[in-house]
Amino acid sequence: MLGGDLRNYLELAERRELLRRVTTPVDRLLEPGCLVKWVFQGLPLEQRFGLRFDQVAGADFPLVTGALGATVQSYALALGVEPAQINDHWERALLAPRTPVTVAQAPCQEVVRRGVDVDLGHLPIPMWTPGRDAAPYITTCVVNRDPRSGVQNMGVYRTLVRDARSVVVNLAPGRQGRACAEADWAAGRPAPIAWVIGAEPSVYLASVANLPAGVDEVTIAGGLKGEAIDLVRCVSNELLVPARAEIIIEGEVLPGDTAPEGPFGESAGYMSDVELRPVARITAITHRRDAIYYGLASQIPPSESTILQSLGNAALIRYQLRHIHGETTVRDCWIDLMFGGGAAHLVVSLRPTRPGHARELGRLLARTTPCKRITLVDEDIDVRDRTDLDWVMSSHVDPQRDVEVIGGFPAAMDHAVSPDAQGKKLGSKLVIDATRSLDTTPVSLPPRALMEQALSTWRAAGWPEISDRARLDRRLSSKR
Ligand SMILES: Cc1cc2nc3c(=O)[nH]c(=O)nc-3n(C[C@H](O)[C@H](O)[C@H](O)COP(=O)(O)O)c2cc1C
Repeated sequence: MLGGDLRNYLELAERRELLRRVTTPVDRLLEPGCLVKWVFQGLPLEQRFGLRFDQVAGADFPLVTGALGATVQSYALALGVEPAQINDHWERALLAPRTPVTVAQAPCQEVVRRGVDVDLGHLPIPMWTPGRDAAPYITTCVVNRDPRSGVQNMGVYRTLVRDARSVVVNLAPGRQGRACAEADWAAGRPAPIAWVIGAEPSVYLASVANLPAGVDEVTIAGGLKGEAIDLVRCVSNELLVPARAEIIIEGEVLPGDTAPEGPFGESAGYMSDVELRPVARITAITHRRDAIYYGLASQIPPSESTILQSLGNAALIRYQLRHIHGETTVRDCWIDLMFGGGAAHLVVSLRPTRPGHARELGRLLARTTPCKRITLVDEDIDVRDRTDLDWVMSSHVDPQRDVEVIGGFPAAMDHAVSPDAQGKKLGSKLVIDATRSLDTTPVSLPPRALMEQALSTWRAAGWPEISDRARLDRRLSSKR
């Protein structure tokens, strides 16, 4: 992991052209939300970049978005590894979480604003879907804590800016952040809350992964960073927040106080409905003197949000299969970069050890992950290679025998599912066993020695070097 803070990462990303600057003035209600859509919808994955707006009209700080999840390369850079090492790096972090350290002095509290000095209007909070969203939204890590256990939770919950000192936070029923707040409300008190803007990259990456309840994301962020995250106590409540962040917004969520939230351009690609969600009152804003505002870009996929969620959740699922479920022959996991969290396509490679093994694993994953499509492949198939996947779908799969549709899963966010008579949305999942471990027919390629020998003719002809040998090498090494 890069030592240091978000700003160190941003400098490095800019040097590698993974972040580009807009130096002319922009209106935060117009250009940033549109330009980031052009990047994610208009450029192929490997050419995308994050955006930094130096001059946001009316705001005190620059705005950065899309930089952590522009490409797989950006995500790997944020972890300080090569793209191929992302799952291994996550596995090491999950096996060795680091307890945070509490400090007394913090860069994020160089400037403290309370009372009438609190004004969200000073922050360059963008309108993410100009012309359609109800308001500007804060899209960053939200901290609260379970008052019964004292364990803090961190997740990204979009937050509608209502006015200078109040917001509506999308703590939806069933989410861990909501459960924490409900425990305080049940005891008749407001629930403390804080929005962490511009923390170390590892804090963002841990926050968006679907870590189990009771795991404090900051300990995993420390594992990902390779050193404990420094935390500092908020100035107006007892929550502990990353000390090296750029900006902290502190507040409290009052029991029973709700307001309409939405419409908002959601990650499934459609505008959300308007729902009643908790109102939070902002009690303080603290920041570095020269703070940088960071907003995660989401909305229509693919987006920064889908890339962060795909990569983190795939790594987490591989860890869980290998270390919690004892599936030691699982080799790799990949989630398509379109959906990331719910409704995504998960591909798992393994060496099946018994008849029906892959299908059992598929059913387990249907139950325990939000993914809608689960494909199991042999260990010699590259889960990231669309050509490999298309090959096995056509050559290994008999749909009647190998495809299973399982129903009865909660699907509140799924636009493809219609509510039942009680208004409940239950959807189905697809498990595809594309392994062929019992088939011993050789692949239809000449043996490696003959293939290599023929290359001398290729070279003598002066043809371009073969740029992508990986797939052919895998096939030539195939035991079948
Ligand atoms: C930009 C962005 C916005 C998100 N907004 C929400 C949201 O409003 N509500 C939600 O439940 N999850 C949202 N997510 C997904 C959650 O942050 C993610 O699933 C996280 O693991 C939830 O934490 P929890 O499991 O502790 O509840 C968002 C993710 C990103 C990257």
